[in-house]
Amino acid sequence: MNESKASRFDFDLLADSYDNWYAGRRGAMYDRLEKKLIVDFLPAKAEGKKLLEVGCGTGHWSRFFREYGFEVTGLDTSERMINAALQKNIVNVSFLIADGHLLPFANDSFDLTAAITTLEFVRDTEAVLREMIRCTRKPGRILLGVLNGLSKANRQRQRQDSPKSPYAAARLFSPVELKEFLEPFGQVEITVGGFVPAQSWLIPFAPLVDPIARIFGGQKGAFIAAVLKL
Ligand SMILES: C[S@@+](CC[C@H](N)C(=O)[O-])C[C@H]1O[C@@H](n2cnc3c(N)ncnc32)[C@H](O)[C@@H]1O
Repeated sequence: MNESKASRFDFDLLADSYDNWYAGRRGAMYDRLEKKLIVDFLPAKAEGKKLLEVGCGTGHWSRFFREYGFEVTGLDTSERMINAALQKNIVNVSFLIADGHLLPFANDSFDLTAAITTLEFVRDTEAVLREMIRCTRKPGRILLGVLNGLSKANRQRQRQDSPKSPYAAARLFSPVELKEFLEPFGQVEITVGGFVPAQSWLIPFAPLVDPIARIFGGQKGAFIAAVLKL
């Protein structure tokens, strides 16, 4: 796979350490809050429904979607990320190396197509979205999780991380930018969450802080969940 054409960052470099983020206290808390947001946009019944995950990485979310009840196909340009996913032996999930710009599936093959923190890293965001739409049955859903460009934590990482980190290469969206990007293609709903305090000792309080920040319309959480209804 030619990474320079498909992706803004070569995730092969991170494949061995990628899941450490989810294992740490901060990463695990973000993960918990992000899953809450994404579940709100999933259909109540997933059994018998096919879900494609574009940019599945190490299969972290693919496993979650499978456990929710979907038949899951995960794909990624990074061979080493896909190898890490395969090593997890997640039952009933297929993984393949492929590029979101040119999905190897017929039109309308899936009930739902998801990309979790992936659009930020693809070379051409609109081309990938159009491919996801093409492969999704109508009516159907596109489900997105995106790093929020308004979040202080994300902006700091983008400024301070080494140019070799994925953050430096990422295209971050604000909630309004994401909404405007998606609206020409269907009905859009967006939620901003992932309000995890910067101080480590406050991390356990995030499940209290997050819903309150959301009730008051906070726009600066680290994560934007979006559904595009086709
Ligand atoms: C930040 S990681 C997210 C991985 C996974 N979704 C997660 O949340 O744990 C972004 C992933 O997108 C993949 N990616 C980047 N460009 C891609 C493309 N054009 N097609 C498919 N996957 C791509 C990368 O290789 C990487 O695994």
